[in-house]
Amino acid sequence: MRRYPVIAIDGPAGAGKTTAAKLLAERLNITYVNTGAMYRAVAFLYSKHGGDPVKIAENLQIEFRGDRVLLNGEDITDKLYTPEMSKLSSDLSAIPGVRRALVAKQREQALLGPIVMEGRDIGTVVFPDAEIKFFLTASAEERARRRKEQFGDPRPLEVIKREIEERDLQDSTREDSPLRPAEDAILIDTTGVPLEQVIEMLMEHVRRRGFNV
Ligand code: DC
Repeated sequence: MRRYPVIAIDGPAGAGKTTAAKLLAERLNITYVNTGAMYRAVAFLYSKHGGDPVKIAENLQIEFRGDRVLLNGEDITDKLYTPEMSKLSSDLSAIPGVRRALVAKQREQALLGPIVMEGRDIGTVVFPDAEIKFFLTASAEERARRRKEQFGDPRPLEVIKREIEERDLQDSTREDSPLRPAEDAILIDTTGVPLEQVIEMLMEHVRRRGFNV
């Protein structure tokens, strides 16, 4: 079955992927898919009920409604975005069986319509033939600051920064599908760049590539 066009947005934690990907999808009027939320949902279910993380990933049935993540109709978004779930999702994402199950679900999304998909391995593994690939980065200070603001995290900036750096190191050194830019990815450093300008940069590339939805 032929898939629809895909825009891949990868990068480390707090690089502004989520906000940028969401807005880009809105501008293009196509579906936005947050793959990090899928890994977080596996972590949430595992922390709640235990069991085999691979089975949990295989049976995962979450729904996205705008910004919110629903599990069996219940809004679990706030439970997914905690420091504990950040760490546990990163830990479980290193398990090849968990990745295999979620990647299969991610690929199915592009059979339904054109998408902007955000994650760590979208341009390298999930859709190595994606029409456009972006890799967003920003300094660790800025990424920590954004996390703090975005999630209202009361802990000192230094603690958040260390946590982000540890998670990135873990995500980029795992054996299966490590976080890294695809060779043909467009690298964008968002340090000090206002969001509106980041979106404009992405849109400019999208236009130049003649991306056709
Ligand atoms: O994007 P996020 O911070 O919500 O992702 C949480 C964790 O999930 C991240 O630390 C690593 C994992 N992840 C992954 O391995 N591959 C993806 N495509 C997306 C997320």
